[in-house]
Amino acid sequence: MSRVIAITNQKGGVGKTTTSVNLAAALAKKKLKVLLIDMDPQANASQGIGIDRDHIELSTYHVLTEERDLSEVIIPSYIKGLDVAPADIDLAGADLELANVKRGREKRLKKALDNIKDSYDFVIIDCPPALGLLNTNALTACDSVLIPVQCEYYALEGLTQLLNTILLTQGTFNRKLTIEGVLLTMLDQRTNLGLEVSQEVRKYFKEKVYKTVIPRNVKLSEAPSSGVSIFDYDNNSEGAKAYRALAKEVISRNV
Ligand SMILES: Nc1ncnc2c1ncn2[C@@H]1O[C@H](COP(=O)(O)OP(=O)(O)OP(=O)(O)O)[C@@H](O)[C@H]1O
Ligand SMILES: [Mg+2]
Repeated sequence: MSRVIAITNQKGGVGKTTTSVNLAAALAKKKLKVLLIDMDPQANASQGIGIDRDHIELSTYHVLTEERDLSEVIIPSYIKGLDVAPADIDLAGADLELANVKRGREKRLKKALDNIKDSYDFVIIDCPPALGLLNTNALTACDSVLIPVQCEYYALEGLTQLLNTILLTQGTFNRKLTIEGVLLTMLDQRTNLGLEVSQEVRKYFKEKVYKTVIPRNVKLSEAPSSGVSIFDYDNNSEGAKAYRALAKEVISRNV
């Protein structure tokens, strides 16, 4: 059985893409079949896993606007067992292009995914930093959401809005939608602030918060420029250790 997890938070720069790429890579390196779907017009996840912009013919844009099959869009990554449905900048216009579609525009990704998701153990969807139609398509297509929360002062700001959106999607397009987990990211262990924020997040989300905390680690920010996961950039880094531990926790919550 496959598990579809959307990595979402409308707040920008909280670690969605870093988590999508490295969680997907970690799961694939555990010999699982994984599909990484890039739903962000910035296409950071696609590039971060080494998909060259010039080699993308079809993208998630075509899935949404032309109802192309995902099988036409998916390309293998350099990691065995990890496939990618890449994004491109055209995706930025998908919202507007679908404005006149009266029925089912929120379900296009789900429809496409239903045909192929059983070929995968995990499907990881990298969401854009906005609560528009791209995010709604992801929330409608997934079983659960993983919410990265950056350990900084305004961490909890905007989470009410996100939780409302999740509730709304549950009530309309996806009754079975659950919260997979909340992930604390970019923790700077030298500051009290990080610890205070993580305590506050744990008080609110309780056991939904992963035991694994992703530390601030420069290797994690360098790896994307080489187009490889943290495990192929620096397998012994703190970042690699953390994302390996996260993958373990994600698997254990899904057995
Ligand atoms: N644990 C970390 N330690 C150090 N740098 C990190 C860490 N996680 C992410 N970064 C860096 O922080 C920036 C934002 O991370 P990322 O792109 O993953 O966030 P995002 O939520 O996907 O952003 P956006 O909302 O723009 O899509 C990137 O430059 C990334 O390399
Ligand atoms: Mg991103």
